Amino acid sequence: MSSPLAKDKKSILDKLLIRFHKKASHGNRIDILSALFIKEIQNISIEKKEAIQLLDIGCGDMTITNILAEKGTNITCTGVDIYPNTKNWDHYAEFDGKTLPFTDKSYDVVLFSDVLHHDAENMNRLLQEAKRVADFIIIKDHFEYGFFSRSLLQLADIIGNYGYGVSIPKRYFSKERFQAILAQEQLQEIKLICPIYLYNHLPLVKYIFKGKYQFVCVIKT
Ligand SMILES: C[S@@+](CC[C@H](N)C(=O)[O-])C[C@H]1O[C@@H](n2cnc3c(N)ncnc32)[C@H](O)[C@@H]1O
Repeated sequence: MSSPLAKDKKSILDKLLIRFHKKASHGNRIDILSALFIKEIQNISIEKKEAIQLLDIGCGDMTITNILAEKGTNITCTGVDIYPNTKNWDHYAEFDGKTLPFTDKSYDVVLFSDVLHHDAENMNRLLQEAKRVADFIIIKDHFEYGFFSRSLLQLADIIGNYGYGVSIPKRYFSKERFQAILAQEQLQEIKLICPIYLYNHLPLVKYIFKGKYQFVCVIKT
């Protein structure tokens, strides 16, 4: 999870957290999620019988966006985020976090990978915008089950995001709240993948950060 765009100057603590996070889990998370996203996007492309235009909202440093573009042979990707493109990434567009600068149904799939829980205030608006511009939405996010799992997820978010200056959420989706939001926005869940094991390579951590805290949902708009 990385958004180096968010904080221009990083303190020693920021740099230490970023290094620890990259070593411990970042690469593994990227590999597992990219493979999963490609598989689900291919399923959509079979249904649509065409090449896929993907919009990655909250793309961060575009690591996942670029892997999807490289490995997903029929996927063309654009990434948007709320920070200016100081790194000159290709296929990056700046976004005000509310209104997408794209016409209706100009994409096949919108991806939100660990984004929605960082912007509770604009979450419904982001989903409405995703629905306006695309036929499918893929959401990767977290489920919490109470105080303990919420605190663990906040700790993971601090390790993964604090160094980059991305805000840490007060709470995460419960399954019930997530499904209520989809119903409210008239979005149709077609597949829910949970658990997802992102930390099986880390001896103790795999027992603490459970697979059921991670989910991917494929949605028809
Ligand atoms: C945890 S990072 C995830 C980065 C990348 N998607 C990944 O999975 O590695 C969350 C990203 O969401 C972005 N973000 C937060 N609120 C947003 C909004 N309203 N619109 C677009 N991006 C947003 C942040 O700037 C940050 O880059």
